Amino acid sequence: MQENKLILSGKTSRKITPDMVGLFFEDINFAADGGLYAELIENRSFEAVKSKGENHNYVLKEDNLYAWRSINGDDDSLEISFNQPVSENNPHYLRFTAKHDGDGFENKAYDGISLKKGMSYKLSFYAREVKYPEGNITASVVKDGKTFAKAEVAFDNGKNPPKEWMDTIHVVCDTLEWKKYEAVLKAEADVQGAKFQIKLSKAGSVEFDLISLMPEDAVAGVFRKDLFEALKDLHPAFLRFPGGCIVEGTSLMRRYQWKKTVGALKDRKIMTSLWAVQGGNTIAEWEMQDCHYMQSYGIGFYEYFLLCELLSSEKRKCKPVPVVNIGVACQFRSYETVPVDSDDFQQYVQDALDLIEFANGPVTSKWGKLRAEMGHPESFNLEMIAIGNEQWESGAVDLAPRYLAFEKAIHEKFPEIKTLGTAGPFIKNEMHAQAWNFYHENAKSNKKIAYVVDEHYYVAPQWLYDNVALYDDYPRDIAVFAGEYAAHDDNLSNSVEAAVAEAAMMTGMERNGDLVKLASYAPLFNRIGHSQWTPDMIWFDADKVVLTPTYYVQKLFSDYSGVEALELDGQEKTLRGNKLYVSAVKAADGKKIVKIANGSDEAQALSLVDKKGAAIKCSAELASLTAKSGKAKKVVPTDAVDLSAGNKVLKGGIMSNLEICQKRAPEEVAFKTEKISFDGTVTIPAKAFVVISF
Ligand code: AHR
Repeated sequence: MQENKLILSGKTSRKITPDMVGLFFEDINFAADGGLYAELIENRSFEAVKSKGENHNYVLKEDNLYAWRSINGDDDSLEISFNQPVSENNPHYLRFTAKHDGDGFENKAYDGISLKKGMSYKLSFYAREVKYPEGNITASVVKDGKTFAKAEVAFDNGKNPPKEWMDTIHVVCDTLEWKKYEAVLKAEADVQGAKFQIKLSKAGSVEFDLISLMPEDAVAGVFRKDLFEALKDLHPAFLRFPGGCIVEGTSLMRRYQWKKTVGALKDRKIMTSLWAVQGGNTIAEWEMQDCHYMQSYGIGFYEYFLLCELLSSEKRKCKPVPVVNIGVACQFRSYETVPVDSDDFQQYVQDALDLIEFANGPVTSKWGKLRAEMGHPESFNLEMIAIGNEQWESGAVDLAPRYLAFEKAIHEKFPEIKTLGTAGPFIKNEMHAQAWNFYHENAKSNKKIAYVVDEHYYVAPQWLYDNVALYDDYPRDIAVFAGEYAAHDDNLSNSVEAAVAEAAMMTGMERNGDLVKLASYAPLFNRIGHSQWTPDMIWFDADKVVLTPTYYVQKLFSDYSGVEALELDGQEKTLRGNKLYVSAVKAADGKKIVKIANGSDEAQALSLVDKKGAAIKCSAELASLTAKSGKAKKVVPTDAVDLSAGNKVLKGGIMSNLEICQKRAPEEVAFKTEKISFDGTVTIPAKAFVVISF
């Protein structure tokens, strides 16, 4: 076994941030609807559209009944109407006509509903009579003819118009008001893959909209509990949201507009997702399997701020980092911009200013008042705002004047807010260098030009090993935000190989923790069978959560953070020769923490000695992450996507998302923390990550 030595002199080198590790949340891979948003009903407001296309060329088609169908196969009984809707912003709704007593309709609810025995689920919907003089409405969750939960509500037709109007359906509809119905469904047994059904007890015709079923344990009535807990357990220092490419949109009309995501749920204008037409690094087709991917904004900007509060703990505050659009549609997918000297552009700047007011403003201000009305009079204490997602100077986009206009307007009105810059989608290339030059130049006369610059890198594991020292020589005038990064192995899977490379890179970030202020892996979530992009940190389906090797790496860096880097005097460079990647820090409680990623295929030993060369022997805590099988799997390309051809060539035919997810399923890990009596030497298995704290 290779033997190595690390002298810990005890000298500290520089102050570092203990709050480097955070989260980047984008609604990709069904992260929001069908994911962290606990809503069980799919297309609950009948606003689905089908999106198709590829870069610079997209088409849409209304498909309002998507995810719904009649129970008895009579699809004529379901119609879409749009007259005096519940909300003008979401104008479509369902008109259901039961020809016989007991007819009904059902929702496929993503991959089917999972219920837990004894748990309650809150049902709500809007309904109004077309012609339903008597009868009730039953809602139930069923599978294979068996009912697992059921509730019945008495239909209120008290607002019937005068009897003589009753035969004239159109007149009747014009005069009736919507009523909101609520009930609770209690699960009598566990079930997976069930359908949600609504039935009319009598023949008749009723209109429905915003049909919702929420588990009672949804955190704050919004967030799916198990996914929320997985996030909370990471003690994230910040949450960057809402994207990602969805901030920019396939066109500016379809960009993320925070003002449309706040206020009453019924009024949040539902919009198609950019990820309905883009396979990211998975598959790229004219029509995607998840071409109905929509954004209900059940998690809107209020909920994102709330989520930050809920993820905060005594250990660490989770700070919100909203990203705003700078008048540029996604540069990969469109050339659309609004000119910097236009009134339209001013509106984008104003939206950013209003966002800060929404988060922090007094309840007497316009946007602060809305925050208070939504239930949060206290400020959300926003400190940072990211100007643009992944922007770069190009023939079509003038990044510099855009950034400067936002920065100036924000600092004039809110001098305390930190503005965050963008260095584009790639690292160590011309556009990255050009962006950094711009910030460095401006920093000479304006110290507040950018608190951090956001860099993105999705790269091979070997790139990370080769670039562990990336930040050693960065200028220190502006700090770094590693806002999106991941190791992409040859199969784009969540392998131990990829995670160990990420751990190695993070030792480099941590050693430079004075510079790298924020770091977030991307993407965060993957609903199995609905992914547009792999690898991802957390996988899930309707009732289980799969934590990946990457997740545990993030957790270890978050749990074992330091306030000062310990001087290694270049020993890290020597160890790198043996494929050992280390960082050493002093924690707030004075403990020393050493992190070691072993990138080699052999186990290695590392002896820790003090400045006199004596072995460090003490009681310690040892945390380790290894492949569960004992040996990390050798990753070989196994699927149909030829990455070298810009994702355009599908080698072995098109696979379903489920097949892709199966082929790229997270490698199982053994993760443990234990108290040990440390004898001075730690063994790090092949392709593993170990943390020792004493
Ligand atoms: O994380 C997936 C995508 O990668 C993000 O939306 C975008 O910012 C980057 O290109």
